[in-house]
Amino acid sequence: MYSINLPTKIVFGERSAGLAPQELAAMEARRVFIVTGPGRTASSEALGELKSELEKVGLTYVHFAEAEADPSISTVAKGAALYKKEGCDSILAFGGGSPMDCAKGIGVSVAEGRPIEDFIGTGLVFTKVLPPLVAIPTTAGTGSEVTNAAVFSLEAAGQKAKKGTVGTTLFPRLALVDPLLQVSMPPALTAATGMDALTHAAEAYLSSGANAVADMFCLESIRLIGANLFKVYQNGDDLEAREAMARASTLAGIALSQAGLGMVHGFAHAAGALGGLAHGLANAIILPFMMQSYAPVAESRLKAIGRALTGKASISALDSAKAVVDLGDSLDIPHNLKAAGLDESLKDKVFDDAKGYKRRGQSPRLYTDGELYELYLRIWAGSVKE
Ligand SMILES: [Fe+2]
Repeated sequence: MYSINLPTKIVFGERSAGLAPQELAAMEARRVFIVTGPGRTASSEALGELKSELEKVGLTYVHFAEAEADPSISTVAKGAALYKKEGCDSILAFGGGSPMDCAKGIGVSVAEGRPIEDFIGTGLVFTKVLPPLVAIPTTAGTGSEVTNAAVFSLEAAGQKAKKGTVGTTLFPRLALVDPLLQVSMPPALTAATGMDALTHAAEAYLSSGANAVADMFCLESIRLIGANLFKVYQNGDDLEAREAMARASTLAGIALSQAGLGMVHGFAHAAGALGGLAHGLANAIILPFMMQSYAPVAESRLKAIGRALTGKASISALDSAKAVVDLGDSLDIPHNLKAAGLDESLKDKVFDDAKGYKRRGQSPRLYTDGELYELYLRIWAGSVKE
């Protein structure tokens, strides 16, 4: 028995972002809280157009451009305070995973009437309906526009940590997936975010929570990424490939909300929080090691991932893991965490944080801490192909 819950309405396609004003008006929004990062999207022409279109349909807005990478709980609190002070009644998230997660955190804080940290590691669950939340992804990777999850940075036991929250109320009301907004992504960001999407699809497919319907989303996402990620890395203006990557990212987001994730994300969150390693880059490095380690217990699923990724009619489980390395090589992804620049002093700290990952149990192969550390040492300084 399994259930599928996809409460987010999704509109795909070029210029779908332009629907945000009328859709917000239809949700009876009056004053929209726009959440972006501080960088290029905040001052983008596309967002400028959206703002003037909001005004044309009689809506006002407040623009909170402070969602940093891996948004901190203090940024979320600041956003929530501004939302309340300005009397907003709806949220428009515009950007990558960080602004979308920040927007979810602000929505939760406002709806629940308590700070987001009250829900992290406490067992307290989200119960209140969020204000109408419209999510417009400008990267193809996170899938946050359709997920029930959000990740935040905080200080825990004296060091930085990244912790996820999950709950049905976190599904955005509407996702506008517009590939035109993703054309301007620089190659390195395209590569890292695309590998994040691949990791979502692969981890959801390998998860103990996998089911037949989520599987469809995973395999189609992996197929699209195999056929298109290198194309968009080489030529960011290839709109057909951008459209395919936009779809792949959203499909993977749907899948992870149904099936879960695993230890690739456990290690990536730790490497991100402690070493500042970009989330997608960390996943890209770690994914093939974990796939390789799952070969004895998940052979047929690994083969299916390899077939979808490479288009080959037949591939071994171990070659599927190597195919992920080959894709990473084509995108200039380093082979291990050390090669990505993480300092030796972080080696054990990253492991100690990662081993407590709350979704560790969803991985297809469960390791003792000792076994997991052996594997981690390869992720730290080894190579899948050695
Ligand atoms: Fe991710």
